[in-house]
Amino acid sequence: MEILGIDIGGTGIKGAIVNTEKGELVTERFRIPTPKPAIPQEVAKVIAKIVSHFNYNGVVGCGFPTPLSHGVCKSGGNLHEAWKDTNVEELFTDKTGLKYTVVNDADAAAIAEMNFGAGINKKGLVAVITLGTGIGSGLFYDGILIPNSELGHVSYKNEAFEKYAADSIRKKEDLSYRKWGKRLNKYFNHIELILSPDLFIIGGGASKKLDRYIDQIKIAAPIIPAENKNEAGIIGAAMAAYHEYLKN
Ligand code: BGC
Repeated sequence: MEILGIDIGGTGIKGAIVNTEKGELVTERFRIPTPKPAIPQEVAKVIAKIVSHFNYNGVVGCGFPTPLSHGVCKSGGNLHEAWKDTNVEELFTDKTGLKYTVVNDADAAAIAEMNFGAGINKKGLVAVITLGTGIGSGLFYDGILIPNSELGHVSYKNEAFEKYAADSIRKKEDLSYRKWGKRLNKYFNHIELILSPDLFIIGGGASKKLDRYIDQIKIAAPIIPAENKNEAGIIGAAMAAYHEYLKN
């Protein structure tokens, strides 16, 4: 099936049509900068523009960068506080008339990796950790998603760990990869202590540079980079909508 996947991020909102059997984009990506402020009505307008750009009429999958439960935003996080308690699926449906499956952005990336990337056939507990503006997580156990985990929010010095170790913090504080890697070492040791995953997959923008900081991270579980890179969020969002479609 061909499904529109949309990845909503703090800086850009990207969409493409995805072939859900192959896990590949069948169109170019179309990107619109995230509105500032990123309030619900403005983001919904961008979604409508992406839908009309592709002249699309079908179910839509969306990756959303905040804590979520059943399509409802639990906290505005890196987007805008006005999102709290918004039913994101209903909002986008009201705006465009189409049906949406909205999942957490890191869950979407994890879905793409487990189906078509570094996680194929990986059993046990696999933790996909995305390093970008924030730290996101997607957990799979024996190939099944445990949705809505928020491992970027375990605390460190009374704050979310992502405020100390996200890739955006590396940029903001102009940290070398070595220094940032040491922060990530603390982070991954902590997560390993709590969950003992069998495998970590690193996604998000920083996955491409893994060789520059992996030496600093000393844990028992293997760590490998994601394979779908920038497209994982779009592919995974489309896959989530596809699975929902098959259920109905
Ligand atoms: C949010 C997560 C999201 C992650 C990556 C965190 O701040 O709480 O829901 O997955 O950023 O975007």
